Amino acid sequence: MHTPVTDFLEQVRLSCADSDEGELAHYIPQLAEADPAPFGAALCMLDGTVYGVGDAEHRFTIQSISKPFVYALALADRGLDEVLEHVGVEPSGDAFSEISLEPNGRPRNPMINIGAITTHALAGARDAGGDESTARVIEGLSAFAGRALEVDEVVYESERSTADRNMALAYLVRAQGKLQDEPRLAVDGYSRQCSVLVDVRDLAVMAMTLAAGGRNPLTGERVVPRWVCRQVLSVMATCGMYDAAGDWMSTVGIPAKSGVSGGIIGALPGQVGIGTFSPRLDRSGNSVRGVRMCEQLSAEMGLHLMETPEVASHVVHGVIQPEAGHGSHEVQLQGVMHFAAAEAALRALARLPDDGAPVVLELSRVPSANDIGRRMLREGMRRMGADGRAVSVVDPDGVLEG
Ligand code: DON
Repeated sequence: MHTPVTDFLEQVRLSCADSDEGELAHYIPQLAEADPAPFGAALCMLDGTVYGVGDAEHRFTIQSISKPFVYALALADRGLDEVLEHVGVEPSGDAFSEISLEPNGRPRNPMINIGAITTHALAGARDAGGDESTARVIEGLSAFAGRALEVDEVVYESERSTADRNMALAYLVRAQGKLQDEPRLAVDGYSRQCSVLVDVRDLAVMAMTLAAGGRNPLTGERVVPRWVCRQVLSVMATCGMYDAAGDWMSTVGIPAKSGVSGGIIGALPGQVGIGTFSPRLDRSGNSVRGVRMCEQLSAEMGLHLMETPEVASHVVHGVIQPEAGHGSHEVQLQGVMHFAAAEAALRALARLPDDGAPVVLELSRVPSANDIGRRMLREGMRRMGADGRAVSVVDPDGVLEG
């Protein structure tokens, strides 16, 4: 069978292709000259399957989409506390190039320019800085994409030579004692980071690496630890779409990040990485067609993060009772055991008649459990044992052993 996912993605793309609204970014000369026509989209799944449609191989500079990934590298290299000393996590509600500083001098978040320049200087070892931080950033972005990424030197020159505003932002942060590098070096490095060339397939893989907890689904490489992804996705959800972040979260509901060259990524935890590209931008600096596509994908594929799943209602597949006083109570569970599922399972155990018959916990339909799910089920079994019941478990996949 030819999977319909590609056709579905293409249908969504085509339905968004009729709009020529929006304008190219004009404050970087090289971007103002870009061809506005290319329009591509890609999805990457947990096993590394990538679906690409339209101009999926068209390359463009990553721009601000690099920010969450460099934030991830800084967190992995320096730890949460050190990064939080320099950059906050509050949405600014401002445009991406605003002077958004907290009263203590920290940039408000790492998704706006002032915070991203600060974050760039935190990537790599503590005594790094300058070219070393930048090398770490390019190597790290490549690890997220699963291939060696290159810099568009023409865009880089265009950007660094017109970076007056970013220089001003860098000097302000330096004056507050929060920038760990010389402003010129930090802005040059940040401009290089923004000039890395990608296509929508790369974006989808990069987004899926975050959504998969830090392991690249193509290469299998652990790029950053799992806790880093939770932090980065949280900040993407609240700050990724700048002054449109609230609107985005309520309509699309996917942690995301846009860039002025026209790219957007969406990273839905555990499910899918999305990359779109179309250069015309709305007033907030987000791709018009990309935003539409993400809205439509979210609505039609049910991808909104806040869509409430009925997690706990089908946890108990069945309960087999002992016959005529012989045999045991077999409680058959199903689905992933996290807190709400394990809570429902424990209630099913608590409801068993107090007849002294042995209890079997049957887990062959349980594919996995998280830490708390495991702890809760083990504790339930321990308590039943302490009450004097014989308790055993059928756990062919070793779900409770993890
Ligand atoms: O700092 C800049 O101006 C650019 N290199 C990146 C800005 C950007 O992509 C903002 N995103 N929408």
